[in-house]
Amino acid sequence: MDKRTKFTLDEKEMPRYWYNIQADLPEPLPPVLHPATGKPVTPDDLAPLFPMELIKQEVSQERYIEIPEELLAVYRTWRPTVLHRAYRLEKALDTPAKIFFKYEGTSQAGSHKPNTAVAQAYYNKKEGVKRLTTETGAGQWGSALSMGGAMFGIEIKVYMVRISYDQKPYRRILMETWGAKCVPSPSEDTKIGREILVKDPDCPGSLGIAISEAIEDAATHEDTKYSIGSVVNHVLLHQTIVGEECRKQMEMADAYPDIIVGNIGGGSNFAGQFLPWIRDKISGAKPDLRIICVEPTAAPSLTKGPYAYDFGDVAGLAPILKMYTLGHTFVPPPIHAGGLRYHGMAPIICHLHKLGLVEARAEHQVGTFQAGVKFARTEGIISAPEPCHNIKVAIDEALRCREAGEAKTILIAHSGHGHFDMAAYDEYLSGRLQDYEYPKEKIEEALAQLPRVG
Ligand SMILES: Cc1ncc(COP(=O)(O)O)c(C=O)c1O
Repeated sequence: MDKRTKFTLDEKEMPRYWYNIQADLPEPLPPVLHPATGKPVTPDDLAPLFPMELIKQEVSQERYIEIPEELLAVYRTWRPTVLHRAYRLEKALDTPAKIFFKYEGTSQAGSHKPNTAVAQAYYNKKEGVKRLTTETGAGQWGSALSMGGAMFGIEIKVYMVRISYDQKPYRRILMETWGAKCVPSPSEDTKIGREILVKDPDCPGSLGIAISEAIEDAATHEDTKYSIGSVVNHVLLHQTIVGEECRKQMEMADAYPDIIVGNIGGGSNFAGQFLPWIRDKISGAKPDLRIICVEPTAAPSLTKGPYAYDFGDVAGLAPILKMYTLGHTFVPPPIHAGGLRYHGMAPIICHLHKLGLVEARAEHQVGTFQAGVKFARTEGIISAPEPCHNIKVAIDEALRCREAGEAKTILIAHSGHGHFDMAAYDEYLSGRLQDYEYPKEKIEEALAQLPRVG
């Protein structure tokens, strides 16, 4: 019997809408607060940062939002992405579990990030914006937005966390090849950057600092707006094309997941996969569906942080969000999964966790690379350090199935390739990679800085 391994959709079958979970939430999201007044933000407050169409999407209660044709044409340059059945991994684990993975590493930038990058470039271009600023950690988001800028003719300025800028020159070169300007953050280009550099000239930077710089730059230039790669509602919305495609592909495979597992940094790739499924859990159609969010032990917001209002950035320029947080001044240990080193989490994911609809688990990095190498040696794909986190949990769940003799269906949200992460694999393979314990004192210090609201 033929064992179908890849489930591919024709371009014509690509979904023509994004799914908006806000229409189906059992309780509405807590309001977003203004960083200066502590009052709920209005669309006008957000107008200096984002184009109006994205602000509308941020608060929309419509269940489906149509993807414009011009954008679909760009999506078609790499979408639909493939759903794979991981037969070789199943065999190596000797598990009765059926393992599937939906792979976003085939986009031009190598991850799920272009799903929102091209959408944001499109809406900004449509509203006459000439230039976008953003932050990037390991460089995945910065490169995705650079590609989006190239496709829609918008100038891109990327503030890249200094430590990654120094360690990952190839990501910077990628951004420059797509025509973007990339500077190490903290930089001399903003007031907040200069202030930090005076206090600490060797500051390694953090996502929180880079966000502050990018927001300040956008707020002080007339033709410029700010673009964000995760956390906020409209970014998660754009990513739902992944889960919407996947539902069709799982149907082709005559399967429905018992467990969906993904990594969460700001939450966008995993939400993009699981939001279109969680509506079945909310409606009561699939009450037993398990959704497992995986984060690093070094930055354990969902597993260890309090659910509180906090700033999205270090300087307190970004709106205040209700989220599981480690404190906006927390600088996580230098794990290789740069995309998972954020102090907060998407409010939508936090809300669903609070409602008991998603689970969370934290993993140490050495175990995740061990899982990533197993995946590479069975399925052939070299994964980015971020998806190695959920591959580890998928393997653990598949081994549990072996013990229990259960043929569960496990769906992995695979967010990208690791071709620029060879130094991390080298550290792992040579036994130099280390785990970081939960930095309790540092987190307590940062939590003391939470804004007072209400
Ligand atoms: C490959 C990859 N996976 C996951 C993430 C985590 O971000 P998010 O939780 O928004 O998907 C990143 C962020 O940079 C990434 O590059």
